[in-house]
Amino acid sequence: MNEPREPIRTEVHRVADPDATRVASYLAQPGEVGRVLLLYSGGLDTSVMLKWIQDEYEAEVVALTVNLGQPGEDYEVVQGKATRLGAIEAHVVDAREEFAEEYVLPAIKANADYGDGYPLFTALGRPLIAKLAVEYARNTGCDTIAHGCTGKGNDQVRIEGTVATLAPELKVIAPVRSWQMGRDEEIAYARKHGIPVKGGTESAPYSIDDNLWGRSSEGKWIEDLSHAPDDDVFQLVTRPELAPDEPQVVEVEFERGVPVALDGERLPLADLIDRAAEIGCRHGVGIVDHIEDRIVGLKVRDIYEVPAAAILLPAHKELERLVGTIHQNQFKPRLDQQWAYLVYAGLWWEPLRTDIEAYMDAVNERVTGKIGLKLFKGHARVVTRESPHAVYDAQLATFAESGGLFSQQASPGFIEIWSLQSRMAQRVREGNGG
Ligand code: ARG
Repeated sequence: MNEPREPIRTEVHRVADPDATRVASYLAQPGEVGRVLLLYSGGLDTSVMLKWIQDEYEAEVVALTVNLGQPGEDYEVVQGKATRLGAIEAHVVDAREEFAEEYVLPAIKANADYGDGYPLFTALGRPLIAKLAVEYARNTGCDTIAHGCTGKGNDQVRIEGTVATLAPELKVIAPVRSWQMGRDEEIAYARKHGIPVKGGTESAPYSIDDNLWGRSSEGKWIEDLSHAPDDDVFQLVTRPELAPDEPQVVEVEFERGVPVALDGERLPLADLIDRAAEIGCRHGVGIVDHIEDRIVGLKVRDIYEVPAAAILLPAHKELERLVGTIHQNQFKPRLDQQWAYLVYAGLWWEPLRTDIEAYMDAVNERVTGKIGLKLFKGHARVVTRESPHAVYDAQLATFAESGGLFSQQASPGFIEIWSLQSRMAQRVREGNGG
């Protein structure tokens, strides 16, 4: 990274949003913006933004693109585009490992699932992206961070919440929220300023967000709840009807809650996730058609493709249940749900999250062993389990025998006491006339 430079202050401000700080203290007033760290994806919104910020704020732009393992991205192309559009610096940071170890791993230990089907890949990525934005903004002398989120989504909450929490000295601008350009105007703006628009301009494409833990599609027919998925939305996972006719069994090995090997091959976590995704994709595993309650109040539909999560989460959950007692197993899902909600809701930096993780880490100390899953045409089903810590004794569990630690003769005594309150309540109700 280059030497920090002093931001350049300018006099002329033509930009809308002079009232920004009346809404939130962290929003930038035009006069405060001298050098902007732009979270740059290379797509239409942030490309238009790169130019627009230079023009409207007369500010310098440092572009930052974060690699969280989104498949098929060419970062040199993105970097080159940023430079051509006038960024004074264009950085690409490979954060795959950090994302896997520090964000996805806690999610695995938390069996993370929001609203019955969403494994939180975007929600996990945003706090890391925003944390890196803060680091790069500080190192390159930026006073403001800009992002491409709309005013209707969760992502603005996650990113701005992170910036406000980690860097109270930095300001934020969110041009998409305030510039009131529609897609057609953005394309016109892009044409006028020589910004390449990839994929043509005829119709709006799906709105995609992805990383190594999953991919979401929004927009187009997805907004019509009665419209069943068109095939072209599935760019990652093979449609189950086209998946192989032969099932495949995959074995996931865990040590203390961490997936460490796939089919006996030890792999660093990010690579293991990639490998699991590959296998899942082949067998059509991890397609979720999801209705979701956003934290900003909207109910929306997302199409998710989460092939790695669809293998690793059920495997982890199964092993955790095997080594836990009935009481631990009753308790943990409540914490899982609370954890997922905090993360979904953009509160990654909330101390309750790490408080909960302290318990989860304790439980996961014993989550060591192997789980086999059979993958077949869109389904992943646990078929084998193995753990030195399993709270399981085949001798005790079998129907065949009695005696030793478990005496069947003692069961009626247990049942009589166990059902005591229910029986009493029943008598009382009958006495009260039913
Ligand atoms: N609905 C998911 C979430 O809120 C995915 C959002 C995808 N983000 C996007 N900018 N397309 O986490």
